[in-house]
Amino acid sequence: MVSNFLFKVLIVGDPLVGKTSFVQRYVNKTFSKHYRATVGVDFALKVLRWSDTETLRLQLWDVAGQERFASMTRLYYKDAAGCLLMFDVSSSNTFYNCIGWKQDLDSKMQQRDGQAVPCILLANKCDLGEWAIGQTEVDQFSREHNFIGWMETSVKENRNIEKAVSVLINEMMVRA
Ligand code: GTP
Ligand code: MG
Repeated sequence: MVSNFLFKVLIVGDPLVGKTSFVQRYVNKTFSKHYRATVGVDFALKVLRWSDTETLRLQLWDVAGQERFASMTRLYYKDAAGCLLMFDVSSSNTFYNCIGWKQDLDSKMQQRDGQAVPCILLANKCDLGEWAIGQTEVDQFSREHNFIGWMETSVKENRNIEKAVSVLINEMMVRA
């Protein structure tokens, strides 16, 4: 007997941090250096065999970073089981804006049992080497704002992409 799970997973953060790139890398194993802003929200589906007895369907909601779509987030966040919040290590603003993103998530998402929805913080573009913020600051922010953890990623160099999703899946499975 195989059990099937369906999880809605959000990916949010400022424009240009690499959310769409992350989804393309994870689902299609491709990377493009060209930027095209997401309008509203994009969807992708990833099916994976989690264990001998468990199959997962991840419905990835790639939410536009642009401010003009902010009024839609309540609709997008509904019934999400997990979240990836991303910033760009070379842009301090994208990190500081994570406070606003996390508050928006926490105020609009709640699981049936009132538990917080697991959220992981992704420090993307670590291939660029130049950090505009201190890693201790990221660490402190992650703990203070109730993330399950944070991780350096590079979509470009395919670093920690699968790992980040696995960590999130583990948390979602515990709560499923
Ligand atoms: P919005 O849709 O506007 O919210 O932006 P987004 O977060 O979806 O950004 P997108 O994934 O479209 O990527 C923006 C730019 O960053 C593109 O030019 C990507 O090629 C580039 N990019 C994404 N990930 C990385 C990375 O890990 N390293 C580097 N160097 N560039 C990256
Ligand atoms: Mg996008």
